[in-house]
Amino acid sequence: MTKIKKITFKYVEHESFSDLESEDSRLITEAKRAAENAYAPYSGFRVGAAVMLESGIIVHGSNVENAAFPSGICAERTALAYAVANHAGDRPSAIAIAAMNGTVFTSAPVSPCGNCRQMIIEEEYRNKKEIRILLYGEEKILIIESAASLLPLQFDKGSLSLHHSL
Ligand code: THU
Repeated sequence: MTKIKKITFKYVEHESFSDLESEDSRLITEAKRAAENAYAPYSGFRVGAAVMLESGIIVHGSNVENAAFPSGICAERTALAYAVANHAGDRPSAIAIAAMNGTVFTSAPVSPCGNCRQMIIEEEYRNKKEIRILLYGEEKILIIESAASLLPLQFDKGSLSLHHSL
């Protein structure tokens, strides 16, 4: 039998920063601050990420580029790797992302790249805790309740087993 399946997901769109809950606006403000610390001389695209941990601690990341281009790393992975290395067991509950083109924040939200999505969902999976994604743009802010929805039919730990289900 052949079946046609459809995957949908819901997300929230806010038009104004003032519509956000205070904890969300605070995390976004931290991501914007982190973008200022990016090292992005090659692309001029400066990204900041802020990860909220269960304990209330916030850790930051920014993109760090390299003359050998593939050696650069994105803001989201910098922040998550820092959280794992320095706050083991303190599970991430949200990540905010903001990006600047040069010195100006993008008007539309910037969504994590595929590599970063893969890393965020690994953290969701192993911690059994959804990670909310807050995407900042000057004219629009998106809130996605779980990173997993950004990567349908994802490859995860379960995929490594012989009899996994998809
Ligand atoms: N970048 C991030 O930091 N996060 C993303 O999700 C997408 C892209 C960085 C990588 C590179 O330094 C620059 O943005 C341009 O792609």
